[in-house]
Amino acid sequence: MKNKIITLSLFVSLSFAGFHSNAQAVKSTKLQETPKSLSSTYDTEIDKLVAQMTLEEKIGMLHGNTMFSSGGVERLGIPELKMADGPLGVREEISRNNWSAAGWTNDFATYYPAAGALAATWDTGLAGLFGSSIGQEMRARNKDMLLSPAINIVRTPLGGRTYEYMTEDPFLNKKMAVSLIVGLQNNDVMACVKHYAANNQETNRDFVDVLIDERTLREIYLPAFEAAVKEANAYSIMGAYNKFRGDYLCENDYMLNKILRDEWGFQGVVVSDWAAVHSTVKSLKNGLDIEMGTPKPFKDFFFADKLIAAAKAGEVSEAEIDIHVKRILKVLFQVKAIGGKDRITGSIATEAHYQDAYKIAAESIVLLKNEKNALPLQLDGVKTIAVIGNNATKKNALGGFGAGVKTKREITPLEGLKNRLPNSIKINYAEGYLERYEKKNKGNLGNITANGPVTIDQLDAAKLQEAIEAAKNSDVAIVFAGSNRDYETEASDRSSLKLPFGQEELIQKIVAVNPRTIVVMVAGAPFDIDAVSKKTSTLIWSWFNGSEGGNALADVLLGKVNPSGKLPWTMPNKIEDSSAHATNSFPGDKSVTYSEGILVGYRWFDTKKVTPLYPFGYGLSYTSFAFNNVKTDKKIYSEDETIQVSVTVKNIGKVEGKEVVQVYTSKSDSKISRAAQELKGFQKVDVKPGDSCIVPIHIPVKELAYYNVETKKWTVEPGKYTLKIGNSSRDIKQEVVVIIK
Ligand code: BGC
Repeated sequence: MKNKIITLSLFVSLSFAGFHSNAQAVKSTKLQETPKSLSSTYDTEIDKLVAQMTLEEKIGMLHGNTMFSSGGVERLGIPELKMADGPLGVREEISRNNWSAAGWTNDFATYYPAAGALAATWDTGLAGLFGSSIGQEMRARNKDMLLSPAINIVRTPLGGRTYEYMTEDPFLNKKMAVSLIVGLQNNDVMACVKHYAANNQETNRDFVDVLIDERTLREIYLPAFEAAVKEANAYSIMGAYNKFRGDYLCENDYMLNKILRDEWGFQGVVVSDWAAVHSTVKSLKNGLDIEMGTPKPFKDFFFADKLIAAAKAGEVSEAEIDIHVKRILKVLFQVKAIGGKDRITGSIATEAHYQDAYKIAAESIVLLKNEKNALPLQLDGVKTIAVIGNNATKKNALGGFGAGVKTKREITPLEGLKNRLPNSIKINYAEGYLERYEKKNKGNLGNITANGPVTIDQLDAAKLQEAIEAAKNSDVAIVFAGSNRDYETEASDRSSLKLPFGQEELIQKIVAVNPRTIVVMVAGAPFDIDAVSKKTSTLIWSWFNGSEGGNALADVLLGKVNPSGKLPWTMPNKIEDSSAHATNSFPGDKSVTYSEGILVGYRWFDTKKVTPLYPFGYGLSYTSFAFNNVKTDKKIYSEDETIQVSVTVKNIGKVEGKEVVQVYTSKSDSKISRAAQELKGFQKVDVKPGDSCIVPIHIPVKELAYYNVETKKWTVEPGKYTLKIGNSSRDIKQEVVVIIK
């Protein structure tokens, strides 16, 4: 039988030669919107404003005058620059002078899926939606700058902020970041892309000196920042806490002046992380524009009275100060905070925004194992379902150290099931395990120790018994395990990959009494789930997944949504398998040397032939796909050309589903050391059962370049490259070889 012709508007004919098939072609991902560059329209007006300002007024604009704004000049109509965290949605209003909540009643916002979840969708369109949806909420709160996206590379699975970051892979990172920033900034809001740079651990983050060789810096840790500047025109960047090659990032001439401004042409503002500034003149001269921080009197900031004194003493000229003031004015004009009559007014916590969060959540959930096809759950004959685990009811919009969201809607997994299951099915809920932390230091995991006679891993006997009974007396058991935002948190890294709170034991005991047990992990970072994975035939990975997370999860469990998430990082068998740990180069003390070099994440596993528990890019579906007919438009390319590779993806199962086509490149005869393979293209496609589509992926030859430290240039090595096309880094279906001249 011939394939059915697909008539979605998404599908178009391919314009390049060589594609004759009954299958239709799916358009390659494009930015949903066009990035706007910083305009020079207001330069004369800016000059005029600066000419009228006193030194004190100028310097007032260069530092925090509240917890989340830098100063304005009221008499000249210059407003404060109003900022808000962060990656999970617009943070609740914080008091002007301290960290306590301002107590507003109109600052409820949509809680969006954490960045790890967004990356797991592998859908740049959803990243754009994420950005524009939050952008609308920012405007409804009358903010100018979102302190997001957070795009540091996941170097170690233990990183406390792994859930807030996207991925271990620089290509996926930059593609998602660019779309997000463009979607956001097209709402008259600035992105503040953080944390620039090499802030890949929380341990000692306030002072650790990060030592990375130049090639690794360029190829792994900077690409997303570079793309944020050059492709998305991000209007601001946040300088990180740590040091890089001896200098703090907020006073780092090499990173701020040389790379960010001179090389990349950044025209926007550099904002410090909160209390990340250590000097006055050095920071100013080395590229910092705005100092933000914690609540000491704002006049005591390095960029406040001390800067006035330095200017008066002639250590910095007023002309130098003007440069920074003008940059701030430029971004304020750009987002219409000054002079913009038609500035977007936005909307917040609307049903439409909750549904944006739902769409992202629904596509982020990763099906890790479905051996007996227990999923989607068939409800025929099911009268009772045991819902077990603290994570069935745990909320994550707030929690831990760092930015959360005050929201009126956070659907938990239990609520999601109640919303979606017919009333006739009885739910037997049991908490199963208790969260346990060291009392004084809840959430500061690096310091968790035994709490009296009870360790954090100890199960409560009564809770365990209750869970076992619930599982025994139900037709199906679903265990919601994993971690939460008190356990994974800013300001500390995890001390191990171990599942806390005795969950491994709980899961084993539940599986033993109910063979129809489904395990759902809710977490933002890898855990040691080797034992769990061996014991259970059905395993799902979900995230800190936003306002609609529980509904999305229930829809995946019940088959209304076919899972299409793919892991944005490698799930190791054990921590020693990950490169920072295998090379014993985490967390360092006063300094940390990234000894693994470019071999971060799957690059290490694949090059060193270490088998991961679940590989980068992995995720199952309720259907299956066949990949055929891989082609490139040509065989030989020159450096300025683009490789047009295509593959026919056929849905050979029974239900509609989305697949992520991933293209890895490898150069086995390279003269330089390289990773075994590197992601260079991907495309998510929706295919109906029995249908096929041709998926084109465009790879500019320049993407194959390595950073040549001698010439200081991106260099494409000529010769043979193998393009490997698959649906995970370890499931390559087809290969094709091209030659670069
Ligand atoms: C974090 C930033 C955050 C800032 C303001 C810092 O501790 O590192 O990501 O934007 O606080 O809340």
